[in-house]
Parts: sequence; structure tokens; C-alpha cells
Amino acid sequence: MIYLDNAATSYPKPADCLRRALERYLACGASPGRGGYDRAVEAEAMVQAVRDSVARLLGAPKGARVCFASNATDALNTLILGLLGPGDHVVTTRLEHNSVLRPLNHLQASLGIKVDQVPFDPAGFVDPGRIEAFLTPQTRAVIINHASNVLGTIQPVPAIGAICKKRGIPLIVDASQSAGCIPIYMEAWGVSGLAFTGHKSLLGPTGTGGLILNPDLDLAPSRFGGSGVDSINPFQPDEYPFRLEAGTINFLGILGLGESLAFVAKHMAAFGERERHLTRRLVQGLNAIPSGKLRLFACERLENHLPVVTCVVDGIASTDVGAILDGDFEIAVRTGLHCAPLVHQDLGTGGAGAVRFSLGPFTTTADIDAAIDAMALIAR
Ligand SMILES: Cc1ncc(COP(=O)(O)O)c(C=O)c1O
Repeated sequence: MIYLDNAATSYPKPADCLRRALERYLACGASPGRGGYDRAVEAEAMVQAVRDSVARLLGAPKGARVCFASNATDALNTLILGLLGPGDHVVTTRLEHNSVLRPLNHLQASLGIKVDQVPFDPAGFVDPGRIEAFLTPQTRAVIINHASNVLGTIQPVPAIGAICKKRGIPLIVDASQSAGCIPIYMEAWGVSGLAFTGHKSLLGPTGTGGLILNPDLDLAPSRFGGSGVDSINPFQPDEYPFRLEAGTINFLGILGLGESLAFVAKHMAAFGERERHLTRRLVQGLNAIPSGKLRLFACERLENHLPVVTCVVDGIASTDVGAILDGDFEIAVRTGLHCAPLVHQDLGTGGAGAVRFSLGPFTTTADIDAAIDAMALIAR
């Protein structure tokens, strides 16, 4: 199989990282933060080390709270439900994933919050000035997808962060696609809360992810239960991470994330260079297909762009293109709406969606050339 669906989840995973995590898990085996005996204390220290690594890699300020979650969706729910209340206004974008859209829609329907969705330009970018124009005294947060999972475009978070800082409005960033792929400087960019997932460019196992919260932003808990501390308290403890982590955390997954994160931190620059080169090769190859039926989105200039290339073949449904790539060429891609229906509505692909090629650190030149050849045959 030629795997070009890394934006869904990265594959292959660095196997040595997972093996090391499993060995450490089997050797320790206690529940982190649940108990005063040596093994439990050791388990908690191992988890804390991963919290510290996450904060370091994503440029979090001193004192930031790292709370683990099942994935980015879970973390975004925690951020959105914990921050917003009746009467609040939110500015977000039309580039968002359902992990942001659906919690906001839920709050709109249940609490009557007001939501403005800023459009993106034809190149796939949101203008910070347009975000600023939507801010009102009631705006409680700006929520933005750092890098579009459909278009690959990386949004100008530093400029948006500067506006939010000036206006005293928390900026929440969905870094699901960007974390591990490109450098992130949460503190320098003025980001107040950031959601990440472990299983994409951080190369960790599924079931991992979390959020980082600046020390000056507090969230109300939206889930309640065991925390391992302050058991007499009838409510969720105020302290982080217990406030936002109800129940036993995914110890094995977090150890796997810790190992893969160290691997990513070491190789991110080299991986990025390779991926940019291969993305350019893919775009040039697809653009050179003479049929005239192939349309690429937001790939004219590949600056500020993740290794994601989305296209349609006019006259063939995207799901059919995906099925042919899979069945005849053993190439795995993602078709349809990519959980980001507004992006497709605005691209004019809101019906059948589009075909997305997403590269990863282990994608080869041969993979890219095979994809171009297959697309040339399909388009012909
Ligand atoms: C931009 C974006 N946000 C959120 C998510 C959700 O991530 P997870 O699968 O970790 O919940 C994804 C995953 O596809 C994504 O691309």
C-alpha cells in the first residue's frame, strides 16, 4: 500500500518508540497519580515528563497547564465548553473542522451563543484584519484552525494573536494538523489555549492528545469524576490538570506519545524539508497532467503550506477516484468532506467533496510518482 492519508493519521509510526513505551508501561504498570507507593509515584513522574515535553515542543509559557485528552476533538470540547457561556460571542473561521464547528453549534443551539465565521480567501488564508472586524465587546474567544486539513494552508496565527492580545480576547488554536509538522510558539504568538492530537504529525498512538492552557486562562470543567486527589471534595478539584482530567488517563498512549515526540523534535526540520520538496513534486506532476480535468485547490504558491494536496477530477465523483486509487493502484487517500463541510461548501465541492493526498515523514519519491501516474490515467 502507498499511504497518502497522513492528515487522517500518520503511518507508519516509529515502531521503536512504541516498543520502548510498551516496555516502560509493562515495567511500571501502576496508575499515574493514584497512590503513594513507589510505582505510582514513578508513573506520575513519567507522565509529568511528557507534559513538560509537550509544553516545550509547542512553545508554551512557563506555568502553562498541559492536560491530556483522548484526542484533539476531546480537547477542543473541553476548551469550548469550559470557556463559553450564555451571551458570549465567538469569532471563528470557515476553515474549521467539525471538532470546533459541532461544539460551537451545540452551544449556539443550547445556550444561544453567537458565532461569526470568517471566510478564507481564494488562496486558502484568513485575513487577520477580517477577524478583527468581527470582534465586539461580547467576544469571549477567537477560535482558529492553525492549518487547514483540507487545503493545507497555515493561517497567520502570530498576527491574529497580536490582535487578540491587544483586545484582551483569548485566542484558541486547533493545532491538530500543525503540531509536530511545523514549529509552534504558543507564548510568542499570544495563543491562550491550544489543542493538539498525538496520532497525526506527532507520530504517536491514537487515543492521545490534549490541550495547553496559559496560566491566565481558566476553564470550567465539563466532565467530572475521579482525580486521585482531594477525594473528599464533592466537586471537581480546581487544580490543574485534575480539573480537566476526570478518570484514569491513557498511560500507555501517553508514554508512546512521549517517545514519538522526542523523535519528532529531533527530526522535524529534516522531515519538513523533505515533505515540502515532495509536495512541490506532487503539485507540479498533477498540474502537468494534460487532460484539463484536474483541479487543485490552494496550491498555486506552496508557501505557508502543509504537505496536503486536495483536488477534484471533473466528471468523476471523488469517492470513485478514491476507490480507483485504492482498488487499482493500492494508493490510500481520503475523499469526501474531510469533516470540514464549510471549506467544501466554499470551494464548490460541498456535494461529493474532493480527493486529498497528505504526505508524511516516510513518504517516498516513488510514492509521489505512483500517485501522479495513477491520477494521469484516471483523468484520461
Ligand atoms: C483540523 C483538525 N481538527 C481536529 C481534528 C480532530 O482530531 P482527532 O482525530 O485527534 O480528534 C482533525 C483530525 O482530522 C483535524 O484535521
